[in-house]
Amino acid sequence: MGRRSLPKLDPSLQLESHLLSFEALDSPWDPTRIYGRRAPLEIEVGSGKGLFLLTESQRVGAHNFLGIEIVRKYARYSAARLVKHQVANARMLQGDGQRFLVEFVPESSIRRVHVYFPDPWWKKRHRRRRVLNDMFLRHVERVLEPQGELHFWTDVEEYFQTTLETIATHTQLQGPLPVPERDAEHDMDYHTNFERRMRMHGLPVYRSFFIKRHEHVPIPAERLSQASDTEAEHADHDRP
Ligand SMILES: C[S@@+](CC[C@H](N)C(=O)[O-])C[C@H]1O[C@@H](n2cnc3c(N)ncnc32)[C@H](O)[C@@H]1O
Repeated sequence: MGRRSLPKLDPSLQLESHLLSFEALDSPWDPTRIYGRRAPLEIEVGSGKGLFLLTESQRVGAHNFLGIEIVRKYARYSAARLVKHQVANARMLQGDGQRFLVEFVPESSIRRVHVYFPDPWWKKRHRRRRVLNDMFLRHVERVLEPQGELHFWTDVEEYFQTTLETIATHTQLQGPLPVPERDAEHDMDYHTNFERRMRMHGLPVYRSFFIKRHEHVPIPAERLSQASDTEAEHADHDRP
């Protein structure tokens, strides 16, 4: 199932207020400077067209939200939605979510990490490109606050099971905790654009979340380093 092209963006929209780049970030980054307030922070890795970020940031106004999207046109599209709706508590970062966690995010600083329908990279030789690899998951555990949560949904059962095993083997996150399916009340009443597509095609969706119930135990530096993928590798999504 390939991805359809995006509608053209209104050229008069000014995206700078809601679209960040790595060049503009300090390391460690300072969310207070970006949002103008201190508040619990939720991040989404791989926002795609940004439906989750838009609806959830409006629903949970007391939290700050950051969507990270590696493909420029999707990052811009999601930022444009936030600008149009004048959302004050959400921003998009264009770039690699793995790099963001590794290089910019301090320990125990994030309330929730969301990863929805990550690219499955079906071919065995491409599996190393999957976002939910052991190194990334160790960083998720590192950056979550105590009682912080990782939310992970996918339509690919094999990716779901592999990730559950990776989490159990490489982290102390507790789960998987179940997430019930909710009936949609209108055409866009879905968690993400991909959930909408899967549900409309009658395909299964595997949902889970995990909680960090412990203080973080520092991880040896050599287990926390990893080469990251480039945008080019993500430009062509590999769904059949
Ligand atoms: C299959 S789409 C799902 C989009 C959205 N989460 C949804 O459910 O509708 C996966 C998205 O993750 C993005 N992505 C893949 N690897 C990434 C990475 N390392 N950092 C940030 N975004 C990434 C892709 O460009 C793509 O837009």
